[in-house]
Amino acid sequence: MSLTWMLLVLQTGLWAQRYQPSTGINARVEALLAKMTLEEKIGQLTLYTTDWGSTGPTIREGYKNDIRSGACGNLFNSHSTVFVRDLQKVAVEETRLKIPLLFGFDVIHGYKTIFPIPLGEAASWDMEAIEKSARVAATEASAAGLNWTFAPMVDISRDPRWGRVMEGGGEDPFLGSRIAEARVKGIQGKKIGDNNAMLACVKHFAGYGAAMGGRDYNTVDMSEKYFREFYLPPYQAAVNAGAATVMTSFNDYDGVPASGNKFLLDSILRKEWGFEGFVVTDYTTINEMVLHGVVANDQEAGELALKAGVDMDMQGGIYQGYLKKSLKEGKVTQAQIDEGARRVLRLKFELGLFEDPYKFCNAEREKNTLLAPAHRAAAREVARKSVVLLKNENSALPLRKTQKIALIGPLADNKTELIGNWNGAGNFNDCVSLKEGLQGANMQYAKGCELEGTDKSGFAEALRIAAQSEIVVVAVGEKAMISGEATSRTHINLPGVQEELVLELCKTGKPVVVVLMNGRPIVIPAIADKATAILETWWLGTETGNAIADVLWGDYNPAGKLPMSFPRSEGQIPVFYNEKSTGRPFDPNSKWTSKYIDEPNSPQWPFGYGLSYTTFTYTNLNATPETATTRGIPAGKQIRIRVNVQVTNTGKVAGEEVVQLYIRDVVASTTRPVKALKGFQKVMLNPGETKNIAFNLTADDLSFYRRDNTFGMEPGAFDVMVGGNSSDVKTVRIDIER
Ligand code: BGC
Repeated sequence: MSLTWMLLVLQTGLWAQRYQPSTGINARVEALLAKMTLEEKIGQLTLYTTDWGSTGPTIREGYKNDIRSGACGNLFNSHSTVFVRDLQKVAVEETRLKIPLLFGFDVIHGYKTIFPIPLGEAASWDMEAIEKSARVAATEASAAGLNWTFAPMVDISRDPRWGRVMEGGGEDPFLGSRIAEARVKGIQGKKIGDNNAMLACVKHFAGYGAAMGGRDYNTVDMSEKYFREFYLPPYQAAVNAGAATVMTSFNDYDGVPASGNKFLLDSILRKEWGFEGFVVTDYTTINEMVLHGVVANDQEAGELALKAGVDMDMQGGIYQGYLKKSLKEGKVTQAQIDEGARRVLRLKFELGLFEDPYKFCNAEREKNTLLAPAHRAAAREVARKSVVLLKNENSALPLRKTQKIALIGPLADNKTELIGNWNGAGNFNDCVSLKEGLQGANMQYAKGCELEGTDKSGFAEALRIAAQSEIVVVAVGEKAMISGEATSRTHINLPGVQEELVLELCKTGKPVVVVLMNGRPIVIPAIADKATAILETWWLGTETGNAIADVLWGDYNPAGKLPMSFPRSEGQIPVFYNEKSTGRPFDPNSKWTSKYIDEPNSPQWPFGYGLSYTTFTYTNLNATPETATTRGIPAGKQIRIRVNVQVTNTGKVAGEEVVQLYIRDVVASTTRPVKALKGFQKVMLNPGETKNIAFNLTADDLSFYRRDNTFGMEPGAFDVMVGGNSSDVKTVRIDIER
């Protein structure tokens, strides 16, 4: 979506989609609450998992009894219409009040038709594509019994050691916010209550992506100013876009674990942002507050969580086990328990589950929906949009149909890894491998090596077919399961002997095209130097092979841009574009400036970077009016600066460019980032074509958390920078007069 359009909707209030219970539902909720026992109310605050055994889906007998007694009101990890129907039946036929269950699941990048991992989709910078991906995922999942997904994950992260970067939108709060909105809209569809709409759950609130050292589940501490500026915006954007539920995170913030953090859950989420849905914990995070060391035992943990604003306990059993006792002892109030139950029930009514508890359990619909041809087509489209061309020396790409190709690498003829981590109900057998995608090419294949391990016995065959070819295409990367939860790595290189294989192939003198498949930015300086061409393809999902083939053949001109910086070495981490200026900014001629003595400050490839089969130039950047005045303008809202730039396709083929606008506040009361993304537009240009691209900057774009933590603009000079990536920009200065 263009910045201009976005600002228009924000200003005219058309964006007022934030979840609000519909009128009429409140009365039904109160009537139901009045009939409920304390145990039944606590049951609504309880969420347990089912399992998938080797013989199919199962549920622990204890949980089934809890459903029957009303002690468990919600389940997750149960999907497919038959299984869900059976469980829902227990709730609506065997319980006293017949309250239907919620069914949650991690539908992160597709249910059965798997789309690119979210970090890959972020590289598309295409909000329509991302919304479509989420829409298809929700359409399939809601046809398979589900009504709630634990997505979107919107944690900003600048640390690729953290495996969970694959689930998010990367390092930038502005891009992350636009993605958060697109995903919520896609998941919740036109309105909650429609047959194909699910509840979204924005996670992990808050700051989980800043886990210290990139080590999963680690602690988080930073100034409130920094937190508000760089980490909170995407969660807020998701709430503003209507996200019905929010999940807490594993980390603490400012010394208090998220699931007991009243500042986060009450002051910010509910009071500042007006969130009216319910808050669920992440997996057993209430219990974990004992190990965080902020409470002495489970009972105290439950009290801290409830009082902080946690409505639903995921898997911990703490609310079920202790809230009754805590109430009796006067440690929590009836009103606090009622409020949680009220929030959960409202959404069950909103979903229409009381009218038809089986509305998501139609087996016929399930059969016709999953992996529908239109869904696969959408997945292919989004997949090719997610590919980033990192290098293309001598225009080695696109390939020519007549070229003799050596297809090599452990991921060239692989399906098992293509659906990535958090792959819903995806089945890798449904995937198109790269080799299948290239079917019909003049090609020989050799695996070369495994994804991990030290075995080099396959090198000889790989080198042999390379010698017989005109060009080598080598597919290497990570196993899907080494990115995602609990997969932090200190060495984010290519595992095993893959790098060696690629470098050996480079020595043959043949052009080598490296196809990367991975869940995080990786460190590959030697390959970056030696390879002829490099394509970052992440994990592209069900249509992987077709999408990569579209790009390799030039049937699709790649336009993806990195949503995260790629480091040159792990020692640079965190390396990200929107850092603040130090008092001793890098100066190549002075030792006493902020730098490393053994590595440049700059990353291998910066945020926003990505090539095309064509080239673009930027000219005539200007801003009108260059001077705007804030005098007499209350909140500075009316400031309007129009930024224009001309972008020309200077190459021989049509292509898309993501035009990026960054600002820098030159002098402010607190230190400011050297660059901050404030707008982007994706434009298609024919060869030789020039388009004028216009952005509107408002006071909000120029605002920040000032010394006193209030949000606002300070007059003075701003640099406005526009370009095709964060490090290659043209600059114009504007001045806001007092
Ligand atoms: C993850 C969440 C996920 C939950 C339920 C947790 O371990 O952190 O992102 O939604 O499990 O599967």
